Amino acid sequence: MADDNDGRGYPEPRFDTPASRATSRRQFIKGVIASGAAVGSAGYLFTLAGCSREQGGARGIERMLQLKINGQVRTVDVLPHETLAMTLRYKLGLTGTKLGCDRGECGACTVLIDDVAHYSCSTLTHAVRGRAITTIEGVEGPNGELHAVQQAMIDELGPQCGFCTPGQIMSAVSLLKANPKPTREQARHAMSGNLCRCGAYDHYLNAVMRAADAGDRLSETRGA
Ligand code: FES
Ligand code: FES
Repeated sequence: MADDNDGRGYPEPRFDTPASRATSRRQFIKGVIASGAAVGSAGYLFTLAGCSREQGGARGIERMLQLKINGQVRTVDVLPHETLAMTLRYKLGLTGTKLGCDRGECGACTVLIDDVAHYSCSTLTHAVRGRAITTIEGVEGPNGELHAVQQAMIDELGPQCGFCTPGQIMSAVSLLKANPKPTREQARHAMSGNLCRCGAYDHYLNAVMRAADAGDRLSETRGA
């Protein structure tokens, strides 16, 4: 370094004094802060660049999608990496679909895609173009009456805190569309992807069997 030179071409001698150690620490900390700021700035600029690329459509992905949700066609601006749960909840206001784990473990986000139960937190919205999506908001009858599964869950005191209930209902509706008269074991298997932290599993299972016995209105959802 230039200031290490004593004018005769020799470096100034270094002494390991408390003052010099304090200076070194200060320089080290300054360096860390400076490099952190540089990394942060780079990340910020990278994010901005990513946004502008996506907004400019340079990736070649059409962002304005038409989705068939609960029997209606909805037009929505969807990022390439956006999950269906995010689109439903935060772009379309369909907050009946819950987000629990957000990684395909709890089933709180279950919706129907072409009548089959799926975790919407693990489904890219771009992948469901042209498919019929049904959320909990779409299972009511034509005049707003409760679906047989919803009524059965009330009758069997299924919901405790209620957070898992929309997902439980969607799985049950999917099951009964495919198999209107399941055995209890088949119903248990079909509902096994929906966790309930309140432990109301038997109540939900009783409700599925009660709805199967009722057997009415099971195919009258708006999204079907
Ligand atoms: S939120 Fe989707 S499986 Fe848990
Ligand atoms: S009713 Fe509370 S998590 Fe299922």
